Amino acid sequence: MKEIYLAQAKHDVSHLPEKGQLSWESPSNIALVKYWGKHGEQLPDNASLSITLKESVSIVDINFRKQEGGGLQFTFEGKPKPEFETRVQKYLDKMKSYFPFLNYLFLELDSRNTFPHSAGIASSASFMSALALSLCTLESYGREMDAGFFKKASFMARLGSGSASRSVFGALAAWGYHPSVSESSDDYACSLSELLPERLKKIHDAVILVNSAAKKVSSSQGHKLMEGHFLAENRIQQATANMAQLLDAIKDEDWKLFAQVVENEALSLHAMMLSSIPGFTLLQQQTLDIIEMIREEREASGLKMAFTLDAGPNIHLLYHDDDRQAVEAFINDKLKPLAEEQRVIFDQMGPGPVLKHLKSYE
Ligand code: PMV
Repeated sequence: MKEIYLAQAKHDVSHLPEKGQLSWESPSNIALVKYWGKHGEQLPDNASLSITLKESVSIVDINFRKQEGGGLQFTFEGKPKPEFETRVQKYLDKMKSYFPFLNYLFLELDSRNTFPHSAGIASSASFMSALALSLCTLESYGREMDAGFFKKASFMARLGSGSASRSVFGALAAWGYHPSVSESSDDYACSLSELLPERLKKIHDAVILVNSAAKKVSSSQGHKLMEGHFLAENRIQQATANMAQLLDAIKDEDWKLFAQVVENEALSLHAMMLSSIPGFTLLQQQTLDIIEMIREEREASGLKMAFTLDAGPNIHLLYHDDDRQAVEAFINDKLKPLAEEQRVIFDQMGPGPVLKHLKSYE
């Protein structure tokens, strides 16, 4: 795919208006089967599967104008943010081999999120997918956004952050080659939304905040520690088997199996962290306390809920729409008091990114 995209590269800006504006809104996602470990140019060691969120989105607004040499002015929520700007600049530099027209375009780029920073919701996935979609919009200006457009956006998002490749698609998305997903590829993600039975089209996700401090170990350091990890081979086998089982659980609406696999994935991700060299711990005491309470409540009530974790201490509690009222009562009564500043973010499965605005000024 890389060669095809490189061959398609546009070297001038004749297809673009003198000036224009565009705005993409793109959601974060939470992985059910975790991507942990990579090789080559951001290629995953195993296939992953995620739920695309609805309310937790990044909004990227771009004012562009033709200018020899190109350039970037980056703001976050309207204000300069040098640490983010460096990352964006680095990404755009990398993108110039696919999008050489960027050498003739000045971008004023502002980004904002609808969710708090370090709250256990990956802003890299929402932001990088919004940015990749914006670049693809500039490349294919005036053309229809077909399946090839989204595939390419997912490929480009992947080069910014692996999990961002999945955010390009709504509801349920898979990234990484897997024998039971015919469209799957290590290069880009694909939508699996058509697999979702009607009653699973509204899975909820409540993020119970345990600690919003910045992580001690970044996900890129974590991926690196999978290289030579003594459990790496087994982990790849486990994730591959879990993916197949989870797809069956979804198709069959088997919530028991769904919860079993999702929780096994979350704890296995953290087991990899605990057993890498050097090992590290992102789980905290409250994380374990909350997990125990969820298990006890489920045992007693049979509620359709399942916890998962990202690379951090915060709990994502997924639940079926059938049990929404009861699970939210449980969260508010029992889990919220344990959360950092009693903070819980309620979200749910969403339809994916939206182009909010596209305008040209000649
Ligand atoms: O996309 P990255 O490099 O931030 O890695 C994400 C890794 C996890 O969030 C832990 C799992 C996943 O599949 O999203």
